[in-house]
Amino acid sequence: MASHEHKIDQPYYGRPPIPPEAPAAGVRPLARRDASYALLCHAFRALTLALIAVGVVALVLWLVYQPSSLKAYVDSAQLTRFDLDNSGTQTHQLRYNLTVGVSIRNPNRKQAVLYRRLDAVALYGGERLGYVDFPRARQERRSTMEVRPSFRGQAALAGAGAAAALFGREKGEGFFSINVKLHTRVRLKVAVVDSAEYRPDVDCYVRVPDPGNATAVALGFTPTQCHVDDFS
Ligand SMILES: *[C@@H]1O[C@H](CO)[C@@H](O)[C@H](O)[C@H]1NC(C)=O
Ligand SMILES: *[C@@H]1O[C@H](CO)[C@@H](O)[C@H](O)[C@H]1NC(C)=O
Repeated sequence: MASHEHKIDQPYYGRPPIPPEAPAAGVRPLARRDASYALLCHAFRALTLALIAVGVVALVLWLVYQPSSLKAYVDSAQLTRFDLDNSGTQTHQLRYNLTVGVSIRNPNRKQAVLYRRLDAVALYGGERLGYVDFPRARQERRSTMEVRPSFRGQAALAGAGAAAALFGREKGEGFFSINVKLHTRVRLKVAVVDSAEYRPDVDCYVRVPDPGNATAVALGFTPTQCHVDDFS
């Protein structure tokens, strides 16, 4: 009698009651699937948060430790030979022997500079005089290093060309204006982290006394600051 009344209290679904084993068997794998889905969601959310945190830290570090560009100076220049033969032919030979001392300053407190490539060229009136390749190097934070490229040899200049005309004019002035360029490929290193690669060029315009002109040699060479590209 009591059990009959209990059955009446239950909601009526218009179906005979389902045996108790059947729903239990159906629910258990579903719950397990829900649990693993929830776990996956948690893991995904944790991963997303971790990535955002890493991004924010990297951005803050970058803003705080934004690298200043390198500074470069030509401190010295020895020109022991710079003459153009006037043999009357259409091309003249420019014979040269030039050594320049270029100091490169890394002003950064946090970043060391890794030089993957460092080479120097000298140009006169747009004509290339020579090329020097330096080995890979590491420059510590807040330090200065010096490179001393030497350019020796001869270059053919067209007799009526710009370089030959420039030579004639500058010989009279006692100083030759020579362009020394350094091409670099560098990475910045903060602790153990390497930056992307940068290619800041160093561009120096120097006026070097004509070795055959005692007045100019006595006046001497004036140290010159170079233009250096930003890290960008
Ligand atoms: C070039 O000049 C340097 C000094 O700067 C000198 O020692 C060297 O002997 C010169 N070389 C030639 C080939 O003239
Ligand atoms: C030597 O250089 C001076 C300037 O330093 C210049 O005035 C003079 O014309 C030059 N001399 C010669 C012979 O070219």
